[in-house]
Amino acid sequence: MQFLVLIVAVLFLQESFIKAESIGFQSSSERVAAPKSPIEVFQSQGLTTFLKAVNETGLGPLFEGINDNFTIFAPTNEAFQDLNNVSTIFANSGTLETLILYQVVPGALTTSDIVSQFEKEGVGTLNSVNNLEILVFVRPNGTILLGTDEASLVTTNLSAGNSVIQVISRVLVPPVTNFLLGPTVIPTAPSAPTSADAGVSTTSISSSLPQTTFA
Ligand SMILES: *[C@@H]1O[C@H](CO)[C@@H](O)[C@H](O)[C@H]1NC(C)=O
Ligand SMILES: *[C@@H]1O[C@H](CO)[C@@H](O)[C@H](O)[C@H]1NC(C)=O
Ligand SMILES: *[C@@H]1O[C@H](CO)[C@@H](O)[C@H](O)[C@H]1NC(C)=O
Ligand SMILES: *[C@@H]1O[C@H](CO)[C@@H](O)[C@H](O)[C@H]1NC(C)=O
Ligand SMILES: *[C@@H]1O[C@H](CO)[C@@H](O)[C@H](O)[C@H]1NC(C)=O
Repeated sequence: MQFLVLIVAVLFLQESFIKAESIGFQSSSERVAAPKSPIEVFQSQGLTTFLKAVNETGLGPLFEGINDNFTIFAPTNEAFQDLNNVSTIFANSGTLETLILYQVVPGALTTSDIVSQFEKEGVGTLNSVNNLEILVFVRPNGTILLGTDEASLVTTNLSAGNSVIQVISRVLVPPVTNFLLGPTVIPTAPSAPTSADAGVSTTSISSSLPQTTFA
C-alpha cells in the first residue's frame, strides 16, 4: 500500500512538471514528437476494453504520466471476451481494480529483460504493483508465457514514456481467494465468505488512491 501511495504522490508531482514542460515545448520551433503516455498507446493499439476498465476504476491517472516506470501487460479486447465471469468483474469496481493492477509490474521490462531473467529456470514469478505473483514461463526457444492460462505476447516492447507495454492474449487472473466476491488484495487462507466480506467493495489500495469512485 505504501508503495502505491508513493506512486500516486510521484505521479501528481510529475503531472505538474509535465505541464510546465509542455508549455516550453509549444514555444519551441524545433518541437520533438512528445513521448506517448500508456493511455495514448492503449488508444493507438485499439485496446478499448482495457481502456474502459481503466476508466471505470478511476485508475486513469496511473497511466497518464510519461515518467513512470512500469511494465503493463495489456490484454487484447478478445482476451477480455474470453475472460470467465467478465461481467461480474466489471460490475464490481473494486474487483476490476484488483484485476487491472495485477496486469502492471514495477520497472520497465522488454522481452529480452524477461527472457534473461527467467530463461535459466524456465519459470518464475514477477510481482504486480498490488503485490501479487504473476507466473512467468520462458520456453527453450525464448517464447514467453504469462499466468496460469499461459497468455502469450501479441505485440511486444511498445514504449510509453519510461514504461513498456506488452500486449497479451489472455487476461491475467489475480490469484486471490474469492476474487469474484470482491477485492482481497492480500491472499488469505481459505475460509467461508461471510455476507460482510462480500459487501466490502474497497481495498486498502483503492482507498488510498485519489479520484477513485465506488459504486
Ligand atoms: C472515460 O471516462 C470519461 C468520463 O469520465 C469519458 O469521457 C471517456 O469517453 C471514457 N473513455 C473510455 C475509453 O471509456
Ligand atoms: C464464474 O464462471 C464460472 C464458469 O463459467 C461459473 O460456473 C460461475 O458461476 C461464475 N461465477 C459468478 C459469480 O459469476
Ligand atoms: C525503473 O524501475 C527500476 C525498478 O523498479 C529502477 O531500478 C530504475 O531505476 C527505474 N528507472 C527509472 C528511469 O526510473
Ligand atoms: C524488445 O526490446 C529489446 C530491447 O530493446 C530487444 O532486445 C528485443 O529484441 C525486443 N523484442 C522484440 C520481440 O522485439
Ligand atoms: C516454442 O516452443 C513451444 C514449446 O515449448 C512451442 O509450443 C512454440 O510453438 C515454439 N514457438 C516458436 C516460435 O518456435
